[in-house]
Amino acid sequence: MIEIQNVSKIYHTSSQDVLALDDVSLHVKKGEIFGIIGLSGAGKSTLIRCINMLEKPSSGRIIVDGEDITALEKHLLREKRQKIGMIFQHFNLLSSRTVFDNIMFPLEIARVPRKEAQQRVMELLEMVELVDKARAYPEQLSGGQKQRVGIARALANDPKILLSDEATSALDPQTTSSILHLLKEINRQLNLTILLITHDMGVIKEVCDRVAVIDNSKIVEVGDVLSILASPSSPTSKSFVGTMMNQELPEDLLHHNGNSSTIIRVSFVGTSTGEPVISSMIQNYSIHANILYANIDRVKDTPFGILTLELMGPKDAVDEGIHFLHEQGVEIEVLKNA
Ligand SMILES: Nc1ncnc2c1ncn2[C@@H]1O[C@H](COP(=O)(O)OP(=O)(O)O)[C@@H](O)[C@H]1O
Ligand SMILES: [Mg+2]
Repeated sequence: MIEIQNVSKIYHTSSQDVLALDDVSLHVKKGEIFGIIGLSGAGKSTLIRCINMLEKPSSGRIIVDGEDITALEKHLLREKRQKIGMIFQHFNLLSSRTVFDNIMFPLEIARVPRKEAQQRVMELLEMVELVDKARAYPEQLSGGQKQRVGIARALANDPKILLSDEATSALDPQTTSSILHLLKEINRQLNLTILLITHDMGVIKEVCDRVAVIDNSKIVEVGDVLSILASPSSPTSKSFVGTMMNQELPEDLLHHNGNSSTIIRVSFVGTSTGEPVISSMIQNYSIHANILYANIDRVKDTPFGILTLELMGPKDAVDEGIHFLHEQGVEIEVLKNA
């Protein structure tokens, strides 16, 4: 649905050139919710702005629904852009227009006949559950309600793609949850492809099917959310997963028991896949294990667990035990060797 091929973007400013995207390639499939996560300044907004053609890539191609948008002529571009909806962190609503008229706005630009447009706005208000706020002005709404208006407006012209630039970053956790829930519903009901960018692994975990990690203008990792949570490979991904799971181990625990113990991090997907394997390891290899950290979370609809264990026993036994876990298909990372 969205094919990003070797895209680079350089901003030329009076003082310097800024390389905001460095040879980025990504493929977003039709109907999926794809997340891009990165720290502030990583290049996320630049990437999303290249997709809806608010910025032109310095090199590379972007193919949206079979069409190379980097090569489109101006008038075709405008038409194409109407099929790409976008929502923003600060909502970008028109303060002098009511909720109804904000949602009406893109339909006016697309010259949809008035009757038909009004009908469409009513449908959208129902979808985002704001029928009773139709005559309110943005300043009379809560943040969550404003973002619902933003979503309705983005969907007005029946886009095939919805882009979201930190759409929940200004909202409290509960409101964030309800907006993410709405996005999931829309994705399912309309089979809409959603590309969202965020700095929050919690958002990725809650709605995304796949995720790309962007660091310093480059994509450093791409995969399905569960595998990246289970075994992040780049340092940036590790730190995002660590923050979300709250499982960065305190420094002193790593030196707990001097150097005589091994510390491993085990992650498992699904309900109880981890536990029996670990108790067999303890029994079969006469190893002692301390639980330093345990957490069960949910990724979209799948349970996902992380367990940090300190293993004590003869070195051979511990090595064999870890080997056994590997063989059982459990994802393991050795955090500290004895
Ligand atoms: N219009 C611009 N002119 C010059 N530099 C820019 C412009 N927009 C973004 N940048 C720079 O490009 C880099 C990436 O920015 P951005 O895409 O906004 O990152 P993010 O959204 O991940 O925080 C940053 O170094 C930023 O300062
Ligand atoms: Mg940004």
